[in-house]
Amino acid sequence: MQKMSFVLFGATGDLAQRKLFPALYNLYLDGKLPDTISILGLGRAERSDKEFQSKVEQSLGLYSRRPVHAASLPAFLEKFRYCAFDATNMDAYDRLHELIETREDELGIPQNRLFYLSVAPGLVDLITSNLHASGISQQDGWKRLVVEKPFGTDLETARALNHKLSTVFAEEEIYRVDHYLGKPMVQNLKTLIWANPLLESVLNHQQISNVQITASETVGVEDRAEYYDKAGAIRDMVQNHLLQLVMMTASYLPVNLRKTTDPVQKTDIIESLEPIMKELAHQHIVRGQYEPGEIEGTSVVGYKEEAGVDDSSKNDTYFAARISIDHPSWRGIPFYIRTGKRMNEKSTQIVIEFESPAEDSHGLQGLSPNLLVLEISPNESISLRVNLKDPASDRFKPVWTKFSTDSHDQPEAYELLLHDALRGNSTFFADWKEVELSWKWTQPLLEAFQEDLLPLHLYPAGSTGPAVVNELLLPGKLEWW
Ligand code: BG6
Repeated sequence: MQKMSFVLFGATGDLAQRKLFPALYNLYLDGKLPDTISILGLGRAERSDKEFQSKVEQSLGLYSRRPVHAASLPAFLEKFRYCAFDATNMDAYDRLHELIETREDELGIPQNRLFYLSVAPGLVDLITSNLHASGISQQDGWKRLVVEKPFGTDLETARALNHKLSTVFAEEEIYRVDHYLGKPMVQNLKTLIWANPLLESVLNHQQISNVQITASETVGVEDRAEYYDKAGAIRDMVQNHLLQLVMMTASYLPVNLRKTTDPVQKTDIIESLEPIMKELAHQHIVRGQYEPGEIEGTSVVGYKEEAGVDDSSKNDTYFAARISIDHPSWRGIPFYIRTGKRMNEKSTQIVIEFESPAEDSHGLQGLSPNLLVLEISPNESISLRVNLKDPASDRFKPVWTKFSTDSHDQPEAYELLLHDALRGNSTFFADWKEVELSWKWTQPLLEAFQEDLLPLHLYPAGSTGPAVVNELLLPGKLEWW
């Protein structure tokens, strides 16, 4: 891999400690970092290089998926340098420029520079334009910009942000992180059907009833109330992660694949999502907020009692929707999506439900629909549910068969994504068209929420969400899996 500088803005923040340093270390252990790389950490606090390196070491002890090897550690830490940095002060960019060049000279690195922005959203365009103004991003080698979500807070702000970034970086130089695209099972979707013609043969209009995508969490708002109370589940999870899962599922598992001459693109799918008008949003969307309850035997407070949350907050911590995709591959097959905090379990999965034979067609009792379940987290697996006759009762019973690779040593999403960014592969990053169209679809819903056109349903922490969500499904016919 090419020699490069990796400039990390926000190096004293939570994401760097929990995800980025451990990911870099595990890539290093796997020989997937460039042999020569200068990693510059930037943060507001004053810190020496040594202090910074010991923070990196601490984070590995706490969060690395593999144990820290004493022997390999010094050479890894030696790649790191620190620079106290105030993004609003132009002098700071000059100092940074000097440091980048000094390290490039010391290590014989050409001017290949990757800028990773893990900073408050309000700083992204400022840093980008100052990188340009200071000349840091106008060098001879290549440049890349990796940006964390949120990418804007609505359609207009996202467009404005993109416009600013695009004056400094070309689209192919911008890597918008959606860490759900880094999850191994999500990446697997891309080739699953090609690798398993058996699956392809069952994915067709006659047999699929609906698709359900769930991302449920047991955690609450944690210490992120300031951000979350403005974002809500719709901006935090739906506009990005869930719509990316819809795009990945619908473009890589399309029904009638063989009849489709051109591969279905993710943008084809997001472009084909039927818009939901804000006045009709109540027919397609359920939004909710958690009340006090119990998670794994421990009492937890309701959302409004969380530190930093306004006690009259109408913010959504739960979101579910029925979505129609007006594309030949999926026309007539509804997608149901839902996500929530403080739910009964942590689970992300895609369930494809097949049509089931009518109960009385051959005097058969106890039939349930066949299901194909792609489990994304906490474990990764593919399961199939079929009906088997139970000799004792002479009724059918649903039974499961489960396939998994049995690998307990899966790379984390951030390892896969960082590795791709380092080698210039943007396949699993969100491109601008996808982001823009996701915001476009979400925008009327944001307005419906803001104008209070939808009720906010309360649900007890530790439950499966508001009961009213069942009304999104065909009444009496379907259930949430
Ligand atoms: C983040 C959201 O993007 O994804 C968090 O900001 C959420 O609120 C997290 O908890 C969920 O990610 P994962 O990988 O744990 O499902």
